[in-house]
Amino acid sequence: MVKINDKYFDIFLNKEEIKNKISYLSSIINADYSGKDVLFIAVLNGSFMFASDLMKCIDLDSEISFVKVSSYIGTSSQGRVDELIGLNTDVSNRHVIIIEDIVDTGITIDKIITLLSVGNPLSIKTCTLLYKPEAFKGKEKPAYIGFEISNTFVVGYGLDYNEKGRNLDEIYQLKEI
Ligand code: IMP
Ligand code: MG
Repeated sequence: MVKINDKYFDIFLNKEEIKNKISYLSSIINADYSGKDVLFIAVLNGSFMFASDLMKCIDLDSEISFVKVSSYIGTSSQGRVDELIGLNTDVSNRHVIIIEDIVDTGITIDKIITLLSVGNPLSIKTCTLLYKPEAFKGKEKPAYIGFEISNTFVVGYGLDYNEKGRNLDEIYQLKEI
């Protein structure tokens, strides 16, 4: 059990389970994209550990770029404006795989896909370590999913609770009291 701020969390997915899942996911991606050039786009901050471990198992001719999604209030006529920060690569005619830590409602991944589509990639797929099917309201289910989990709050291995807990090397679930 770990305590982060005021909350207690129990172990949920251990190192071995995460490692085995990454080796499984990477073997499928390596097979699906065999002979192709792939641009991985990892979404910060949450995906930093997953992206790092996944990429060590990828044996494709590939590149990786890291992005952040920023949302700000535009002029009154525009409302909220979403922007991808840090994408320093042209995605046109590239096979893109987005690396996410978790897909919950799907709002974030939908925004990212919309923003990347403007650059005319050959294809866009999502690889997420965690997926909450009950919460998902997005357009398309991620192509590569590590673990389908119930609608509970998890931290560790990059995922945060109020920015804390990202450093934990296993995944913990909020303790029900
Ligand atoms: P979305 O609802 O799919 O747009 O997810 C938005 C973001 O919420 C994710 O990228 C995570 O940063 C965060 N998030 C969703 N569920 C959890 C969770 O269980 N733990 C930590 N962060 C979460
Ligand atoms: Mg995230």
